[in-house]
Amino acid sequence: MRVLGIESSCDETGVALVDASGPGVPRLLGQALHSQIAMHQAYGGVVPELASRDHIRRVLPLLADVLSQAGCTTAELDVVAYTRGPGLAGALLVGAGVACALAASLGRPTLGVHHLEGHLLSPFLSADPPEFPFVALLVSGGHTQLMRVQGVGRYELLGETIDDAAGEAFDKSAKLLGLPYPGGPHLARLAEGGRADAFKLPRPLLHSGDLDFSFAGLKTAVLTHVQKLGEALPGRQADLAAATQAAIVEVLVKKSLAALAQTGLDRLVVAGGVGANAQLRAQLNAACQQRGVRVHYPELSLCTDNGAMIALAAGMRLQAGLALPERRYSFDVKPRWPLDQAAATA
Ligand code: KG4
Ligand code: ZN
Repeated sequence: MRVLGIESSCDETGVALVDASGPGVPRLLGQALHSQIAMHQAYGGVVPELASRDHIRRVLPLLADVLSQAGCTTAELDVVAYTRGPGLAGALLVGAGVACALAASLGRPTLGVHHLEGHLLSPFLSADPPEFPFVALLVSGGHTQLMRVQGVGRYELLGETIDDAAGEAFDKSAKLLGLPYPGGPHLARLAEGGRADAFKLPRPLLHSGDLDFSFAGLKTAVLTHVQKLGEALPGRQADLAAATQAAIVEVLVKKSLAALAQTGLDRLVVAGGVGANAQLRAQLNAACQQRGVRVHYPELSLCTDNGAMIALAAGMRLQAGLALPERRYSFDVKPRWPLDQAAATA
């Protein structure tokens, strides 16, 4: 069974094809990605209308690339999956529209996939795939969540951010430091040359006793330091970057450990763009090793948005008998869509 996946929820157009025949993890047959980062950089963030227009231009050439990698034609596709939400409404509509038009022309079923389910399952494509059950730390530009994952489609929300997401905290702090969009990787690079203890920054909700996060106050604290430093900022930029990263990473690590303790699980899966952060990986690895907990990550190239995770999630849902692919070609998208609401249904 060949499942095509199309991702277009934000600023990356991704297309991928998996083979989901048999009981094993779906096998990736081809994937192609176009990042719009360079286009949005001039504006300091994603411009939704530009994102939608660029998805329209990119998606069919990417599809042709994937089919040629896999050595097959559209006629050999069995299911066409797409990101149904959450994300930017206009951007989602492009992927959904293309997927449904393609499927209609082929007489094949479609399947709308939850973007975060894609992130959450993406480590199954790595060389060291996890086993269920596990705790998942989902850290992307728009979401920061801890979930208890019992199996495909069986997700229980344990805690989440009450304001900014971890990726947003990286991006907004980076912007205050004068770094380009998306700031996360730039801030991480700058932090390598800085001293994390040079500034005292808050660790919001660290001792709240629950598994929720809050990062808005951190951004305000960074702003205060930037204003105080004024013209001295360039000389202290690396230290402030290192301190910001340390604050975000410490909260993510401590809350992940608390979620493992609360659930009694001994496996952690980290997914989403911030999962590419080297400091987060190093500190989680060290803390988990001490406690006998296995940590799994997606391949670095699959941490940020991509089509492979959407094709994979669709394939795994079909294998689990959870999703009913449909031959109805009218579609809707869900810009806001809690993962636990999408979990067990198609
Ligand atoms: O998962 P993703 O590609 O998009 C969403 O679904 O939101 O995550 C993008 C986020 C951005 O905020 C970006 O700055 C952050 O992931 N990010 C990083 C790193 N690489 C990407 N943050 C910190 N360190 C990194 N190395
Ligand atoms: Zn994402």
